[in-house]
Amino acid sequence: MYYGGDYNPEQFPPHVWEEDVVRMQEAGVTLVSLGIFAWSRIQPAEGKFDFEWLDRVIGLLHDGGIAVDLATATASPPPWAVQQYPDILPQDENGARYWPGSRQHYAPTSPSYRRLAAELVHAIAERYVNHPAVVMWHVNNEYACHLRHDYSDNAAAAFRQWLRAKYGDVGTLNEAWGNAFWSSLVTDFEQVHPPRKAPYSVNPAGLLDFKRFSSDALLELYTMERDILLSHGATQPITTNFMGAFAAADYWKWAPEIDIISDDSYPDPNDPEAFRTAAFTRDLMRSLGGQQPWILMEQAAGAVNWRPTNAPKAPGQMAALSMQAVGRGADGVMFFQWRQSRRGAEKFHSAMLPHAGTGTRTWREVAQLGADLKALGDVGGADGRARVALVFDWENWWAVEGSDHPVELDYGALVTRWYAALHRRHVMVDIVHPEGDLGGYSLVIAAQQYLVTDAAAANLRGFVERGGHLLVTAFSDVVDESDAFRDGGFTVALRDLLGAQVKEFGALVPPEFDASAPGERFAPFDGPFGSGTGTLLAEELDVVDAEVLAHFTEGRRSGDPALTRKRTGAGRAYYLATVPDEVTTGGLTAWLLAEAGVEPLVAGASEFVEVARRGDVLTVINHSAERTEVALAGTDVLTGDAVETLELDAYEWRMVRPR
Ligand code: GLA
Repeated sequence: MYYGGDYNPEQFPPHVWEEDVVRMQEAGVTLVSLGIFAWSRIQPAEGKFDFEWLDRVIGLLHDGGIAVDLATATASPPPWAVQQYPDILPQDENGARYWPGSRQHYAPTSPSYRRLAAELVHAIAERYVNHPAVVMWHVNNEYACHLRHDYSDNAAAAFRQWLRAKYGDVGTLNEAWGNAFWSSLVTDFEQVHPPRKAPYSVNPAGLLDFKRFSSDALLELYTMERDILLSHGATQPITTNFMGAFAAADYWKWAPEIDIISDDSYPDPNDPEAFRTAAFTRDLMRSLGGQQPWILMEQAAGAVNWRPTNAPKAPGQMAALSMQAVGRGADGVMFFQWRQSRRGAEKFHSAMLPHAGTGTRTWREVAQLGADLKALGDVGGADGRARVALVFDWENWWAVEGSDHPVELDYGALVTRWYAALHRRHVMVDIVHPEGDLGGYSLVIAAQQYLVTDAAAANLRGFVERGGHLLVTAFSDVVDESDAFRDGGFTVALRDLLGAQVKEFGALVPPEFDASAPGERFAPFDGPFGSGTGTLLAEELDVVDAEVLAHFTEGRRSGDPALTRKRTGAGRAYYLATVPDEVTTGGLTAWLLAEAGVEPLVAGASEFVEVARRGDVLTVINHSAERTEVALAGTDVLTGDAVETLELDAYEWRMVRPR
């Protein structure tokens, strides 16, 4: 179990480094991520490297028994590099340049950036690849965190190259993008541009490809650095830190290139439901890594500095959220950062060692968690053994949130609404790609899966044929991978499986609109789970060959089907023709779990109690300020004591091997 944080010693004089190591030992630190933003310190000029200070820091850490996750330091190019090679700087969609003075001011496709970054990684790898302290490599940092897309001339050239490789000739591109529309037929790839500021909506298929390209361009940077490390004989695991469900990088595509998945996570202490979204990201990381252990690479010990208001974590909350990660498969708990910065933009961001020193609650909690993780020892493999899977797909995310649709949908919020309903019911969930392996699941939910490839449709069909329960919800199976309708309208790829076809979307007024806005806002419906409320869409369904389980009861769809079920092979496919509100999502979830025969991990616990399974261990966490009880017989993993009922104070956690 790794424990530690980002370590930025270049901000402090050498005598502080010595104190750092002593304090790290006191806190139970075993690993630090070193040098993430140290490029200008390591390389004061082109061709000139200063490793003397870094040698010393790594030596001190090693002597103190602290391992190093060594950064490639490429996340923030130094001022001299930008001065000499201004093409490093990225541009926004108006062609305006992003200037240096902050961080991440590089265009991923800039040849100068790539060359200089490569030289830096070569130098670092050459020097430290065999250092016994270095147990992991930390490539760059949070790719695209601040700059999701670059529209520079470098980006334009690389985008055209990407399109040439994908489509081969302009005829194929014109067909895929539908360029016959709005006089857009191109006769040369040079006529294609990134989706820069245009008078009106840009071509959605082009936009979708630009998002694919932008994710790929960053991934290319990652693999470039990784391959340099490998070329020097690196045997340590190589990682780069993800940011949960982050829109700009298709982590399904990235994950196979990464040895150990790592994630940065900053749930808002002001939001009493933030722990549920955090749980979703933990499950996403475990799922991206194929049920292998992952690392919580960054979290805050207390407050962050970048929200409009930055609450500290409540007493115990930092440990609760850390153990949530461990309970959901993490083999490391790390922080941004080890010692709080005295200067710069993040001087108000909490750290393991705060400005006020060791006489603080933050320090006591950090040291306590370090001791607990040490005492916990090996908690086994990360497999959550979930029987329920939620489909989550970046390509669909990019496509479903396109402009000019019947309603605006927030894909992340809608998927996590289903996740939250399952989480409240103490059910373990995996996150899956629509073309991913669905073997072993009893229930799969595909919410707003607007973009469906033929391969995904076949995969979902196979799941149902083998006995699975599949729920598909409104605005799914609308387009193919080029964001084009298939011949035959909507719900073509899944029509046979669902036994129903959508004829019309029936947009409703979004619930959050001004209450005086005219028009229908809700679509009530009735079914086997009780009555429910639909929002955003009330679709007109043509039921070809399915049972109708629920009808709309009011409004323009009154009497029409709202929920259908069709049996295929040993399984069932359900279609819900609306977007259920939160309460209805809960009712439907409970009913579906019963249909699919999925039991909760514990019975009768409060919805603010989280239960997660990792192999044969259950982690139980009270995320509320109220004391609560959970009936669970087994052995406490930390103390070895037998337990029957857990009494949990505010933010208290336990790990139990059930009897
Ligand atoms: C990100 C970065 C860190 C730091 C934190 C602050 O996660 O990777 O360098 O800026 O945010 O929360």
